[in-house]
Amino acid sequence: MATVSRSETSNPSIGEKKSAPKGKGTIHPIVVYGDPVLERPAETVTVFDDKLRHLLDEMFESMYAAHGVGLAAPQIGIPKRIAVVDVSFREDPKGKIVLVNPEIIKKEGKQKGSEGCLSLPDFRETVARASVVTIRAQDAHGKHFEMTGDALLARAFLHETDHLNGKLFISHVSALKRDLIKRKIKKLMRAGEWEYTPPL
Ligand code: NI
Repeated sequence: MATVSRSETSNPSIGEKKSAPKGKGTIHPIVVYGDPVLERPAETVTVFDDKLRHLLDEMFESMYAAHGVGLAAPQIGIPKRIAVVDVSFREDPKGKIVLVNPEIIKKEGKQKGSEGCLSLPDFRETVARASVVTIRAQDAHGKHFEMTGDALLARAFLHETDHLNGKLFISHVSALKRDLIKRKIKKLMRAGEWEYTPPL
């Protein structure tokens, strides 16, 4: 989801992105708006094996490299109900949250705030969301858990769960703003400039 503007968190491994060997630390390129994988509901995960845990490691690495605070599997082209979140941006080891097959089970309150998405680079809009959100999900080993978050964490839970339902944050802005964004993207596509560029 939500990109953080923290220029101090630059990742030295970014330059190695394309040539990095497969394995822990592989950074996946981010899929941008226009790819149908982002607008299709993702598939439920039924197998909790080492392959899944390896993918989760790679998703965290890819999210940190992109300076994101959340990343859903469809954003790296994988149509599975998997997301990772870390609103502490690596500062709190307990901030790393794995969400497999997440479902929002409770929403309370209201917050308005600026929201962005790695799959819609450089677009940010004010989005109204619930301010306290409880999510039910499975961890990397298939264990069910519930977690309640507020502020940015609540926003991340909603944004990432939306991704797994094929929904992007621009579906929460006015039709007028959404059309304007889509028009700008089409223009960028025509110019061959619509792509994700990793932060330096
Ligand atoms: Ni997003």
